[in-house]
Amino acid sequence: MSPSAFIPIFTQQTKYFMHTPIEGFSKLTKEEKIDWIVTNYTHNSEISKAILKKYWNADTELQKLHDEFIENTISNYYLPLGIAPNFLINNSLYAIPMAIEESSVVAAASKAAKFWLDRGGFKTSIIGTEKIGQVHFMYPGDEKKLKAFFRMVKPILLQEATAITKNMEKRGGGISKIELRNKSEKLKGYFQLHCTFETLDAMGANFINSCLEQFAKTFKREALQYSPFTAEEKNIEIVMSILSNYVPNCLVRAEVSCPVERLTNDPKKASEFANKMIQAIAIAKVEPHRAVTHNKGIMNGIDAVILATGNDFRAVEAGVHAYAAKDGDYTSLTDASIENGIFKFWIEIPLALGTVGGLTNLHPLVKLALEILQKPSAKELMQIVAVAGLAQNFAAIRSLVTTGIQEGHMKMHLLNILNQLGATEEEKITLTNHFKKNTATHSSVVKAFENLRGL
Ligand code: MEV
Repeated sequence: MSPSAFIPIFTQQTKYFMHTPIEGFSKLTKEEKIDWIVTNYTHNSEISKAILKKYWNADTELQKLHDEFIENTISNYYLPLGIAPNFLINNSLYAIPMAIEESSVVAAASKAAKFWLDRGGFKTSIIGTEKIGQVHFMYPGDEKKLKAFFRMVKPILLQEATAITKNMEKRGGGISKIELRNKSEKLKGYFQLHCTFETLDAMGANFINSCLEQFAKTFKREALQYSPFTAEEKNIEIVMSILSNYVPNCLVRAEVSCPVERLTNDPKKASEFANKMIQAIAIAKVEPHRAVTHNKGIMNGIDAVILATGNDFRAVEAGVHAYAAKDGDYTSLTDASIENGIFKFWIEIPLALGTVGGLTNLHPLVKLALEILQKPSAKELMQIVAVAGLAQNFAAIRSLVTTGIQEGHMKMHLLNILNQLGATEEEKITLTNHFKKNTATHSSVVKAFENLRGL
């Protein structure tokens, strides 16, 4: 390595300006925020401003709605919304909306949907819907006394949360369980109230966090008055109260199956293909480097539907990957088998989703996406999302073990490259036709483009 490779990046000449901190940025108007950012952080303020404004919505009401989703808004960030049709799920046909920037994901989903449409479709089931939240606290004293205190205080915790829980309870949900857990072997003095909830069609973050904060208040107050505690024990220190995005019992299963000979058009090739699929999954089960990419492909499908339906993809990502490592090693989220000549391929994943509350009632495109999905309950949405993940994984592995991923991917990516090159509509048609018969790579596309233009 040359000595210059050790120079920290910020000392190199990569920065445009000297920057100074700003006070009260959030209080500036949108125009003032834009002026500040383009002047201080971009090369050409006028061009930068024009780009930001190009993405504003002409409908001022709609723009205001988007401005208010987050803070310090200066523009909108578009993602394409695509449709993957022909998903047969438990004998109902769905067209699945997907918001994603990556070319070939929607095409792959559509292809997998069509493939399984002709082979009985997807079968899904809900294994559980339990959500989790925890009050984390430090208690320096005698565990037996804490247990006795917990038994005494538990009904009071539930009673004092009724203002928060009564509407949820009317609809059949609420607090399912509160447990005291001793974590002091891992961290001295650390205990928790480990609570489980049923939040029905809501993702439930606000409901759960409000319940937990109320539990914490009641717990702290009652501890201070609990006479068996010493002065030190009375002083329970609440560290934090928050839901957990790890929801291993909010679980859904999706599955496809068909006789092995139906897996390929040529039945003679079916067995080889089925075995390769099984091997590919076996590799993802034992090799974390492959498992991460394998699961990333699954998340291509899952995140796209989660985003289109206004759900929290960061929560789902965190929970799903933790689940993939639940037995100690990071492993594949999908599984496959061949038994009695039947190929079976399935996924079991935790998904805490909502179809009411949050963005679902606010974002017009989210509302439309949910309408396209026939206004699903949270349980139905869990099943649709799991299917999107399974379909995506099937399509990816099918390509990987047959043609390789680049053939399909580059065909789909072709338009992106042509757009980057500034191809006209006519040139795009000519070159798309050309690459129907030729292998598309970045350099072959550039070369064909240059030939066409006589460059
Ligand atoms: C690319 O976004 C996803 C894949 O890498 C998934 C996989 O390898 O299984 C194709």
